[in-house]
This record gives sequence, structure tokens and C-alpha cells, in this order.
Amino acid sequence: MHITMIGTGYVGLVSGAGLADFGMQVICVDKNVDRIQGLNRGEIPFYEPGLEEFVERNVKNGRLSFTTDLKMAVENSLVIFVAVGTPDDGQGKTDLSQVEDVAKRLAQAIDEYKVIVMKSTVPVGTNRWLKEMIQANLKKDITVDVVSNPEFLREGSAIEDFMRPNRVVLGSDSAQALAVVKDIYRVLYLIEAPFVSTNLETAELIKYASNAFLATKISFINEVANICEKVGADVHDVARAMGLDKRIGPKFLHSGPGYGGSCFPKDTLAFADLGKTLGSPARIVEAVIAVNRNQRARMITKIENAIGPLDGKVVGVLGLTFKPNTSDVRESPALDIVQALLRKGAQIRAYDPAGMDEFQKVVNDEKISYWKNAYEAARGAEALVFLTEWNEFRNLDLKKLKEALAKPVVLDLRNIYEPERVTDLGFRYMGVGRGTAV
Ligand SMILES: NC(=O)c1ccc[n+]([C@@H]2O[C@H](COP(=O)([O-])OP(=O)(O)OC[C@H]3O[C@@H](n4cnc5c(N)ncnc54)[C@H](O)[C@@H]3O)[C@@H](O)[C@H]2O)c1
Repeated sequence: MHITMIGTGYVGLVSGAGLADFGMQVICVDKNVDRIQGLNRGEIPFYEPGLEEFVERNVKNGRLSFTTDLKMAVENSLVIFVAVGTPDDGQGKTDLSQVEDVAKRLAQAIDEYKVIVMKSTVPVGTNRWLKEMIQANLKKDITVDVVSNPEFLREGSAIEDFMRPNRVVLGSDSAQALAVVKDIYRVLYLIEAPFVSTNLETAELIKYASNAFLATKISFINEVANICEKVGADVHDVARAMGLDKRIGPKFLHSGPGYGGSCFPKDTLAFADLGKTLGSPARIVEAVIAVNRNQRARMITKIENAIGPLDGKVVGVLGLTFKPNTSDVRESPALDIVQALLRKGAQIRAYDPAGMDEFQKVVNDEKISYWKNAYEAARGAEALVFLTEWNEFRNLDLKKLKEALAKPVVLDLRNIYEPERVTDLGFRYMGVGRGTAV
């Protein structure tokens, strides 16, 4: 089976290489010329564990290639996956310009039956619109079918998630298209991955409802954490005990600076917008968004309360990416928090194992310096703030850190450390929701 994958971002590149690993012949297309040239030299444009070897293996076995030539790729494929970006437009709606651009190009390039598979997260109704739009602009009297196949992979464990998904959702009105896509994923039947086949709208909504629910868990536990701080309770124990209830489950009950990343912020906004547009407000999700914004602000207040006015103070920051094991800083809590600290006159010494280049592209300020390890970032700082829970931050030499810092103050905004262990070494320690009202 010959497949085109449009978009070589976090989803497109992993999915393209994954489909090649399933035995398909995959051509990945991107309009970003530098990216395609880099990929043809074996350079992966972002950090994702195992991706370099995964891509290399599938390029070597001749099943994976890269091009900017969409027309050529489409002519040679029966199935066209779309994995372009669908960011927030800044007004709480989804910016569909990348999808619209692809739709126009596809309409020009298609001259025989094709199945278009939408992997991007798109608002309800987009896939039906896409089919009609392409169909109306085709040069010949032929049919195209559209399948909604939302992606659920997580950055940081993207390959494993793609190769062993919790479920595969396929939405379509065409039995023929559905059969073609099921055939592509047939290796997943061997590992008994559940398939959910449904109509286009249901598939689109499954993705938003899933992300909105996960974001709800995060905002919920952050509200619990805030109450913990008021009453001297420990959110870590509350969450653990809650999570032991199988109806609740332990995942996504970690309090911290609030959710970020390229998906939850925009997908919760889009879900709330959908509810509003339909006259059926998504009040819970609206509250989830407000709680998340407030949580960021609380973190900044926490830092100020711990070290006083920030003007002229040096603050060490560990972790810039929105989560560990990625270089992605999109909507990272660190962006909001570091920029707020800079605005308030602080100087930042930062370290992140993979995200410093990306962070620097967004935050270009002479008051922030980047260092090669945690101890260097801590040197001379009045407080050390943990913003991402990278594994390498879990076992730092705390005595060495204390020597490096100007003042032994730790703001553990990811609750990485046990408070007693840190305070026993003479630090002032503040986590999130851990009985310390700062
Ligand atoms: N990142 C994630 O963890 C994740 C997980 C699940 C779903 N999603 C969804 O998947 C989609 C893609 O996300 P991403 O993070 O991979 O995006 P991304 O921004 O990393 O990548 C998008 C890529 O598409 C390319 N592109 C844009 N327009 C194009 C065009 N007309 N022709 C060819 N290439 C084009 C861009 O150059 C870019 O390389 C989004 O809808 C997102 O919500 C993302």
C-alpha cells in the first residue's frame, strides 16, 4: 500500500515512520523545505526518544522517504494522511489555514479515487467540509472519501503510543474507505488494539472530549492542591488515595503549574468554543481553562512570596519544555512563568536537557542565560524553580545544589521531591499543595 503523509511534525513524522514500520510504502510531504532537506540528511527536527533510529531504520529498508512535492506523492498513493498543525487562532477558535491549504492543493493534485485520512485534531464538521471542498474543486468527475482518524500519541512516548495505541478511532461514511484504512492498521489487530468505527462527527468529538477530560483531571487536582495549602493537607497523598479507586485511576492527578503543550490548551478552547457556538455551553471545560490560567498566576505569586520582590533577583530555572522527553515548548508553563519573572525584573539562569534552543527562539531576552546543567543554572541564584519533571532532576546532588545557590530555596512546582528530604538538608522547600501555604 502506498501512502502519503502530509506534515512532518510530531504527529506526521512519527505516524509516517510508524506506518512504514507496519510495512507500508510511505512518502512524507512537508512545505518546509529546510525540514525536508534535513530529514533527507537524517536530521530529526525535534527531540523525541527513539525517533532518529526509528526513522533511519525505515528509510534504510526503503519504505520511508521525504519530499516537498505534494503532487508527486499524491499521484503515487491511494491513501493520503493529513497531519498538519491546527493551532489556536488567538481568539479561542481553531486556525484551520494549514488544513485549508492542504485541501486546495489536494483538489489540484487528485485525478483518481483517493482516501484522505485526517490525523490532525479538527473541529467537528471539518472533515465533512473537507470532503465537500475537495470534491467540488476536483478537475475530473471522480470521488474522494474522507476518514477521521484522530491521533492520541503523547510527545515523549510517541512511538510506543503509535505502535501500541489504547484505541484506534476511525470515522467515515464510506465503507470502502473504512476498509482501506483498517487494512493499513491490520497489524494492530494482532496486539488486540480496540477499533472504534463511527461517523465523522463522532470521531472528531472523541478527540476533543478525551483531551478536555484529561485537562479536567489536571485542573481538578490543582484546585484540590490549592485547598491543601490552605488546610495543611498533602495533595500527593490525596491524589494517591483517590487514584487507588479504580473508578478514578491514578493518571493525570499530578498537581503543578497547570497543563500546557500543543494540544490541551488549544483543544479545551476549541471545545468550549464549539459548545458556545452550538448554544450548549461547555461550562465544566470553561472552568477548567480558567483554573489553568489561574494556576499559572498562582505559581508566580508563590515564587514572589518565597523570595520577595523579584527586581534584580537571580532565579534558577530547571525545565523549560511543557513536559519531559520532548524539545517542545509550545504553551509550556515555563514560557508564562519565566516571562512573568523577567517582566518583574528577575534575571534567569535556565537549564533544560532538550528544550533550550526552542525556548530561546520564543524568549529572546538578555536577562536570561542558558547553562549546561542544573548546578550551573543554580549558581548564585536566590531560589531554584523546578518547572519540568525531567528524570535527571529527580536525583540531583542536593548538597551540591545548596553550595551553588546563593540562598537554599527550592520551589518544586512539579512536586518532584519529598519535602522532608529537602528540608532536612537545610533548604526552604515549597511544592504545590503539599501543606505549605506560600
Ligand atoms: N503534538 C502532539 O502531541 C499531538 C498529539 C495528537 C494530535 N495532535 C494533532 O496533530 C496535528 C499536528 O500536530 P503536530 O504537533 O505534529 O504539528 P506540527 O506543527 O509539529 O507539524 C505540522 C507540520 O505540517 C507542515 N505543514 C503545514 N502546512 C502544510 C502544507 N500545506 N503542506 C505540507 N506540510 C504542511 C508544517 O510545516 C509542519 O512541519 C495537530 O492537529 C495536533 O493538534 C498533536
